[in-house]
Amino acid sequence: QPRVFTDANGIRQFSRDQRKSGNRIALVPTMGYLHEGHLSLIKAARDMADIVIVSIYVNPTQFAQHEDFGVYPRDEEGDMRKLTSLGVNAVFAPLRLYASGSSAAAGSDAGNVVGAGEHQKGAHETFIQVEQLQQPLCGKSRPHFFRGVATVVAKLFNITEPDIAIFGRKDYQQLLVLQRMARDLDFAVEVVGMPIMREEDGLAMSSRNALLSSDNRQKALSISQSLQWARKMVEDRSAVSPSELHDAVASRIAAAGGRVDYVEVVDGSSLEKIQDVTKQPTLIAVAACFGSVRLIDNIELS
Ligand code: PAJ
Repeated sequence: QPRVFTDANGIRQFSRDQRKSGNRIALVPTMGYLHEGHLSLIKAARDMADIVIVSIYVNPTQFAQHEDFGVYPRDEEGDMRKLTSLGVNAVFAPLRLYASGSSAAAGSDAGNVVGAGEHQKGAHETFIQVEQLQQPLCGKSRPHFFRGVATVVAKLFNITEPDIAIFGRKDYQQLLVLQRMARDLDFAVEVVGMPIMREEDGLAMSSRNALLSSDNRQKALSISQSLQWARKMVEDRSAVSPSELHDAVASRIAAAGGRVDYVEVVDGSSLEKIQDVTKQPTLIAVAACFGSVRLIDNIELS
């Protein structure tokens, strides 16, 4: 049974005690509703450290007012069962992480920081921005997003003081943003990325898949299928220009009924646009909506 902490001081003390005993500590940050993708990170953490801490917190600062914070799926009991069977040592599941303003709603963080409206006296006002890497891809349609992610992960690093933190490559831009943050701000945390876990039919696992209708669940397969197809085109040298690849992927997703947010063919480390996919490690990244559910996926070409 993992030890469950809901306040920062408790988990910080746990972590410090573990370090004093010579243990190496891994942190796996999540927003809960755990699936095999999350569990693969936890298994990797177990291999790379002595003590595994999993955080579960649906972070309001990375959602805009119109986004799905309110309907983000939650399953505390199911999550605890999975974490117990994996032998996780500690779970950090705070009720709130942000200081509240003088007239902010009590009981949850949502009222304090979502929407960044009028500032409340005493409320949280410090944010981390990774200036360049936060801008392309998901940063265009979700301009608040990486600021919220970087800020909450910095808080989680400061609270849990891990040696290593594990993230999934499904959220590729998030991984790059957090690696850069750790480097630029001298966090003594190694930020590691692990492969994308997929359903048998190829759909990238995501907590949001649970929000898809069965019809849209089927249509959403067009994302991973079009990415596989793009990889094959590159391997066969039948398409190497970014614009050809873009059009091939975007048109397949649109034909399946998806609303494409972006398809980008970019340099895998800078996320900048490129001329030729054979010249450097390349990322094809996609965001598309099926119904009201926004999904992301990507493929790395080396
Ligand atoms: P969440 O979406 O819950 O994801 C938690 C971690 O699981 C992230 O590192 C994500 O990349 C990884 N993950 C999700 N689906 C995956 C899959 N199919 N294969 C491999 N890894 C996968 O990402 C977040 O939460 C939040 O932004 C967070 C980092 C916790 C900050 O709030």
